[in-house]
Amino acid sequence: MRDGPPQGRPGGGTVGVREDGRVTAHASPPADRPLPDAALLAELGAIAEDLARQAGALVREGRPRRVDVAATKTSPIDVVTAMDLASESLLRRLLAERRPGDGILGEEEGLDRGGSGVTWVIDPIDGTVNYLYGIPAYAVSVAAVVGPPRPTEWTVVAGCVHSVADGRTWTATLGGGAYEDGRRVRVNPPAPLAESLLATGFGYTTERRRAQARVLVDVLPRVRDIRRIGSAAIDLCLVASGEVDLFYERGLQAWDQAAGTLVAAEAGATVVGLRGAPPSEAMTVAGPEPTVRELVALLEELRADTDDVAAGGAEGHPSG
Ligand code: IPD
Repeated sequence: MRDGPPQGRPGGGTVGVREDGRVTAHASPPADRPLPDAALLAELGAIAEDLARQAGALVREGRPRRVDVAATKTSPIDVVTAMDLASESLLRRLLAERRPGDGILGEEEGLDRGGSGVTWVIDPIDGTVNYLYGIPAYAVSVAAVVGPPRPTEWTVVAGCVHSVADGRTWTATLGGGAYEDGRRVRVNPPAPLAESLLATGFGYTTERRRAQARVLVDVLPRVRDIRRIGSAAIDLCLVASGEVDLFYERGLQAWDQAAGTLVAAEAGATVVGLRGAPPSEAMTVAGPEPTVRELVALLEELRADTDDVAAGGAEGHPSG
């Protein structure tokens, strides 16, 4: 039975600290929850890629010259197109054929619980506003997670982000590394925050945006530059490929970031939230570890994990 859109629009929560102290894209699963064996990991990874590519073909080939808004969600600018719905329907149909016992959490239709312990977390078009305008930065994101279908409790084990317009495809399986079009990718070597190119994004509500703009006023003077690409899934993959150094965003949902956080972490990124938390709707930060530490300290000082426009500044921060 399908649950409605998840309460509170869950965030990522896919990253934790390993026994060796390294921060990774997946919390250590409880001992009573075995991770998939190599054969199942390979199967889930192959399905994630195949489905993302099939939905990507639908999105690419079915894009009309003029795209209309079909509905809005959290605000009048949080749009859904007919293709978001068609792409999610296709992904759900294909998953029902290939893995009938699995759960599915999708951006447009919410959660269908499964019985297998595997849940698919799908974003049929991440970067819908770019899709609407024909800006070529939108992606299909497909991830397989194990454990309870709750972002703070599951472990992401396989993921694919397929950039629809140019076909670039990032894949990762837990412990298996990250790949772009079959070539292994690594994050950039750490650089000082002041020499780092930083991708970020903004939410859809006025209150959230005012707070994000306040934070940006203090972040922008402290970095090489800012990029707002418009797809968090692609942002995280660009961190993995070293095409930006860092990424942070408040307000991401599970489907925006499940596959991308695994790709980034398997490429060597530290992927965390603030104040020792894993990444979640409150905040996601990704990049090379020392630079992430610097950025996290700044974001914590700025209270970037709140929507309070009056929250603190960063006058005392070293790179200010
Ligand atoms: C959005 C994109 C965008 C990010 C927003 C997300 P959507 O996803 O990932 O880059 O800034 O927070 O909601 O709505 O296009 O699926």
